[in-house]
Amino acid sequence: MKNDIDIRTENLVNIYRQDKKLFDKLFSEAQRIYVSSFPKEEREHGHLLRKHIHRSAHGLSKRGNYNYLVALADGKVRAMTTFTTIKKSDFSLLLWGYVATDPKWRNKGIGRIIHKAILQDTIHNISPDFMFLEIEQPKPLRSDGTYEDSMRDSIRPKFHNDVSGAGCAVTIKEDDISIIPYAQPGILVNDEPQPIVPLLPAISSIGDGLIDHYLQTPGEVISPEGKLLVNKELLPTMDTDKASEIIHTMLNHYILSKNTYCTDHIVSIEKNIEQALEGSQKVYLIPILGTRYLDRIEDRIA
Ligand SMILES: CC(C)(COP(=O)(O)OP(=O)(O)OC[C@H]1O[C@@H](n2cnc3c(N)ncnc32)[C@H](O)[C@@H]1OP(=O)(O)O)[C@@H](O)C(=O)NCCC(=O)NCCS
Repeated sequence: MKNDIDIRTENLVNIYRQDKKLFDKLFSEAQRIYVSSFPKEEREHGHLLRKHIHRSAHGLSKRGNYNYLVALADGKVRAMTTFTTIKKSDFSLLLWGYVATDPKWRNKGIGRIIHKAILQDTIHNISPDFMFLEIEQPKPLRSDGTYEDSMRDSIRPKFHNDVSGAGCAVTIKEDDISIIPYAQPGILVNDEPQPIVPLLPAISSIGDGLIDHYLQTPGEVISPEGKLLVNKELLPTMDTDKASEIIHTMLNHYILSKNTYCTDHIVSIEKNIEQALEGSQKVYLIPILGTRYLDRIEDRIA
């Protein structure tokens, strides 16, 4: 079944330029999937997304190149995703935003198609060196053998584990693994900040358009006791300065979305991260699924 469906992807930024009526139809179908897939505190308003698309379509964007992709089957939108590409002085970055598949169409391979389409689209344009994405920290199985939230604790991290090849950025001192205490600043709703959303900072390096699948064996990397099962020198690493620049670029992106995110939150997130990285030369990337056995990020957000 997984490979049988006929899926076509379209970038709504191009459609916006060419055919406003078609854009309105596809955007509203995609937004229905988006709104039903994410809680209010994680969602950006539809009018804001439309504004990003407008700016990107007309080359007015000051905050990287924004994209909104949809996947269509039988003429209807079945999945959506957003991403932004940014050129820095010595590397280029792909910030992967939201991705959601219509609940009736999940687990049929559309997420994988969407991921491939993002890479094709961006490789063609800027050839990104790294991808950054935010994902909730999964929780371990409960004693009754079930998950508290199977999307958060199992499906979503497995999706990123198997598809995006991204690893969670951590510091390792002695035997102690600490997740870099990242978060999404609270979205402002009628000028009131929604709660800060603690998230894993996940990075993958995209050499030649191929994803580093080094991180795909979570059970062999972190034990249920939260201990490292391999020599840390075997893990993918990045210079702290580079990882910090990638994370900072993401946070700066929030700052540039004026009046959308709580600025005080951004300042405190930056401070937490700076403290966590102090004195470290390297950050290590570990499998997203393995982070369920580590201390909770929310306990480290001041
Ligand atoms: C996460 C999500 C986008 C995946 O989309 P999808 O179209 O169902 O993904 P695919 O069918 O292409 O599956 C790709 C991989 O995801 C994982 N996966 C998807 N559904 C799964 C399920 N029910 N159980 C376990 N793993 C699953 C598998 O690793 C799968 O690889 P495989 O095909 O080799 O088994 C979708 O579940 C969704 O919309 N979730 C709600 C929104 C969300 O959480 N978005 C992610 C934000 S970070």
